[in-house]
Amino acid sequence: MKNIEIALVMGDGSAPEMMRVACKIAKIAAVIDGINIQFIKTPMGWGAYQKYGDTLPKKSLEKAMEIGIVFFGAVGDPALDNTIGVEKPEMKPETKVLLALRSQMGLLLNFRPVVYYKELAHLAQVRPERIPEQGIRQIWLRFLLQDSYFGSEDLREQIPPEVRERIGLWRKNVVTGDQLIVSDIAYYTRKVVEKYFRAAFSHARLMKLPLIVIDKANIMARYVFWRKIAERIGKKEFPDVPLSFQYVDAANALLFDPVKLQGVIACGNEHGDILSDGAVAAMGSMGLMCSSAINPDNGKAMFEAGSGTAPTLAGKNIANPLGRILTAAMMLRHIGAPKGAGAIETAVREVLSNGSRTADLFSAKRGDADSIGLGTKEIGELVLDRVLRQR
Ligand code: IPM
Ligand code: MN
Repeated sequence: MKNIEIALVMGDGSAPEMMRVACKIAKIAAVIDGINIQFIKTPMGWGAYQKYGDTLPKKSLEKAMEIGIVFFGAVGDPALDNTIGVEKPEMKPETKVLLALRSQMGLLLNFRPVVYYKELAHLAQVRPERIPEQGIRQIWLRFLLQDSYFGSEDLREQIPPEVRERIGLWRKNVVTGDQLIVSDIAYYTRKVVEKYFRAAFSHARLMKLPLIVIDKANIMARYVFWRKIAERIGKKEFPDVPLSFQYVDAANALLFDPVKLQGVIACGNEHGDILSDGAVAAMGSMGLMCSSAINPDNGKAMFEAGSGTAPTLAGKNIANPLGRILTAAMMLRHIGAPKGAGAIETAVREVLSNGSRTADLFSAKRGDADSIGLGTKEIGELVLDRVLRQR
């Protein structure tokens, strides 16, 4: 057995309940590939603040950086944002924790595959007749650094303070609504965009899919730059990978006609944030969104489901853990446990085919709104049972 350490952030709200289930399944599935996962707790988020006075305790950050692989339950809680967060806006975990990890770990590539479950077709926003028998292959690959998320912070020092004020480059925790002008900087740099597109083309080639590049090159300079780099790298280095472009607004409309949006989809940080939620909701349920963020240079990675902390569900054993469980499968593939990963994915599919559902996966439209969903732990046990059968 090979030992692999993974930094574990249980997270806030209902995340810890879901993470407990996902960790148990991940640990058992990894054994199929001869891997013994050791989860090392690295507390972050409002929960960590309440214990250690910091949403990103130094020790946790150092340990996570050292290990280089993080399994991340979501952080954040509007109730605490509106209390402690008002006094200490710099502690808000979305920026202090999540963006810090992305930036310090160099997590450039954010994979968000959309998986369509026929059993859950009634939850999809797309009309069922628009989804072919064999399903849809749609892998969102969001550029996770730079852009409007990091621009102002990354470039602040290059702008003299008096100019910052004139152009309205305020730090977001001092913005009151009384300023005369407030701006954000969005930027891309050539080397990083080139690295991103090489990874995007390579992934498309590996998956035998076309590369679809999303942008707003009809309006914005950074997307003209983005498109030219994609064209150049495609032509020179990946002539075998079919390449096409979509403006972001058109791509948004195509979420509802997904046959026309099949491939690896390259999109900027902000576009990718918006479109990937839409894509998952269009094809199914947010509770099933899985996501990985990777540094292509050194393999550092963070695995985080997309469904947030759902604080209103906390402590009730009703939150849907399947997104976390599917995210654990992505993590297993990354650490060299592809059989375990496959076993988890098969298990989830089987459990859904059997009609097992958490409360969020019932649809009022079908008249089963009164059905009582399975609990977080209970659906986890069913998945685990199916994983065990595949050993
Ligand atoms: C996501 C989330 C984050 C983002 C938030 C919580 C900062 O929405 O991972 O998509 O915008 O990137
Ligand atoms: Mn998002």
